[in-house]
Amino acid sequence: MKVLVTGVKGQLGHDVVEHLLRQGITPIGVDKEDFDLTNEYETLYYVTQAKPDAVIHCAAYTAVDQAESDIERCCRINGQGTKNLVRAAVQCKSKFLYVSTDYVFPGTGEDPYEVDDPRGPKNIYGQSKMQGEVAVTSQMTAYFIVRTSWVYGVNGNNFVRTMLRLGEERNFLNVVDDQIGSPTYSDDLAKLLVDMIQTNKYGIYHATNEGYCSWAEFAREIMMRAGLLCEVRGIPTSQYKTPAQRPLNSRLSKKSLDAADFARLPHWEDALQRYLNIIR
Ligand SMILES: NC(=O)c1ccc[n+]([C@@H]2O[C@H](COP(=O)([O-])OP(=O)(O)OC[C@H]3O[C@@H](n4cnc5c(N)ncnc54)[C@H](OP(=O)(O)O)[C@@H]3O)[C@@H](O)[C@H]2O)c1
Repeated sequence: MKVLVTGVKGQLGHDVVEHLLRQGITPIGVDKEDFDLTNEYETLYYVTQAKPDAVIHCAAYTAVDQAESDIERCCRINGQGTKNLVRAAVQCKSKFLYVSTDYVFPGTGEDPYEVDDPRGPKNIYGQSKMQGEVAVTSQMTAYFIVRTSWVYGVNGNNFVRTMLRLGEERNFLNVVDDQIGSPTYSDDLAKLLVDMIQTNKYGIYHATNEGYCSWAEFAREIMMRAGLLCEVRGIPTSQYKTPAQRPLNSRLSKKSLDAADFARLPHWEDALQRYLNIIR
């Protein structure tokens, strides 16, 4: 099996390639230098030459705040770029897995979102990722869409790394405590995606590390496990202004993962410890 992975210079794409190699599957890892997703011709040419059996689409415009003032580029990459890639996959009859986000939901209430709950993104990034979902579902009848949240991995900058840096520099930090979700270690998610792409259990899934917490709880756990004495003070979102609005409720239900008999990912605290063991 030959699997084309986009976004290999990012967090998740990097780990997906590692897991493919571990399972003896041939990866074709690509990023911007190989072809620009927003260029329909380049994308079609590259993919039809490579003729992959499957595509795991991890590349995206992921700068959530910057997207608010860079709307056109964000939507071109996440919406049109995904459309171009799907079109190429259809031509090659490749399986397709699109990685999406909790930010497609509005984040109201306190219940975990089910896969078929109405979407309603609060920010441009979420809108663009929803456009990506539509690009998949409108062009294919069988696909995998996997929504995840709060991703961190060895190959990139992320919340954990920011907390470790600030934890060394400061005595205290204010972190929002009313946005609730699940941190996700890209290595755990990558393993699931590689298992999934080898099946025909098509559908929409939510996949994050188990358990829910606020960003402040996550930050405290990072400080504690890293032995940093920095105090984390919880503040409401209303006191932490950012260009992009973020959902308060990012809880994602794993029912569809259970129904298809895929193993859930480990608890987020367990994942965090494994990540810290590797990077520190
Ligand atoms: N990070 C999170 O917290 C999070 C949460 C939920 C869902 N997700 C989704 O999970 C997936 C993986 O996220 P990640 O954190 O691994 O992202 P990441 O680290 O930002 O990596 C994304 C990669 O895609 C590349 N890319 C951007 N535009 C491209 C284009 N036009 N053509 C080809 N490649 C392009 C980026 O290159 P440049 O860096 O050079 O632009 C980067 O190497 C994405 O689909 C994201 O939307 C992420």
